[in-house]
Amino acid sequence: MGAEIAFRLNLVHGRCVGVRIPAEVDETILAGLLPEERGFVSTLAPARHPSWVAGRLALREAFCDLGIEPGPILATRRGAPALPSDLAGSISHKRTLAVGLAARRENVTSIGVDLETCPPVFASVEAARAQARPDLRTRVLTQDELARLESVPEKDHRRVVTLHFSLKEALYKAIDPVVGRHVGFHEASLTPLPDGSVAIALALARDDGAFSAAGFWTEIENHFLTTARVQRT
Ligand SMILES: CC(C)(COP(=O)(O)OP(=O)(O)OC[C@H]1O[C@@H](n2cnc3c(N)ncnc32)[C@H](O)[C@@H]1OP(=O)(O)O)[C@@H](O)C(=O)NCCC(=O)NCCS
Repeated sequence: MGAEIAFRLNLVHGRCVGVRIPAEVDETILAGLLPEERGFVSTLAPARHPSWVAGRLALREAFCDLGIEPGPILATRRGAPALPSDLAGSISHKRTLAVGLAARRENVTSIGVDLETCPPVFASVEAARAQARPDLRTRVLTQDELARLESVPEKDHRRVVTLHFSLKEALYKAIDPVVGRHVGFHEASLTPLPDGSVAIALALARDDGAFSAAGFWTEIENHFLTTARVQRT
């Protein structure tokens, strides 16, 4: 397909494929897209082409691994990947890597995926303090999450905050297409466990209906790779 596959994983919320983002989108890489997708990408700012194309290739490849041909993957009005109603999928990209997460909707209402670069492991509290992002901490974490952070060694705080940030981005991508509105960071409180499972307590600010949600996290190629699943109850 022109772009390099970085990994293929079976995750709890779907099949996940990673694709290396090409430096340039040439004809060989464009050949991996369907004609409708090639038409869509030509309407985007050139700077978005490599990540958009790599994300589409990753998501299509994840569906192909499930034996599904999803057809052209364009975008909804809110920016999510547009898919047939029986399919669920999500995309994320960081500087060099794009991922697609794919599932049949029979098992899930909606899914989301996110990638964030892992922060460095700080050797000391002083080194960690020098690079702390207190603004991000209070923007992303709820009061419950801030209380739980107190029991984590300070040199690991940035890592924990980044993991929560990534999980909330994955959750956002799962829930936004269902509720059709901006969901804020303080509308969910997360408890990530060392085994990769994540308990999610939703506290939606509007009456969007009843949902259950669950998260998952792992690390790959110095990135947090996080996923979320939302189901109507
Ligand atoms: C939309 C948002 C999630 C994108 O995340 P990001 O880290 O900036 O970028 P990523 O590379 O991880 O993801 C981008 C992809 O998200 C997907 N996406 C964009 N808007 C979306 C939406 N409304 N719903 C679902 N997926 C969406 C797209 O596939 C996009 O890639 P593409 O344009 O190439 O197709 C983020 O910018 C945002 O607005 N967050 C809202 C606040 C939030 O996270 N709240 C937490 C709730 S608990």
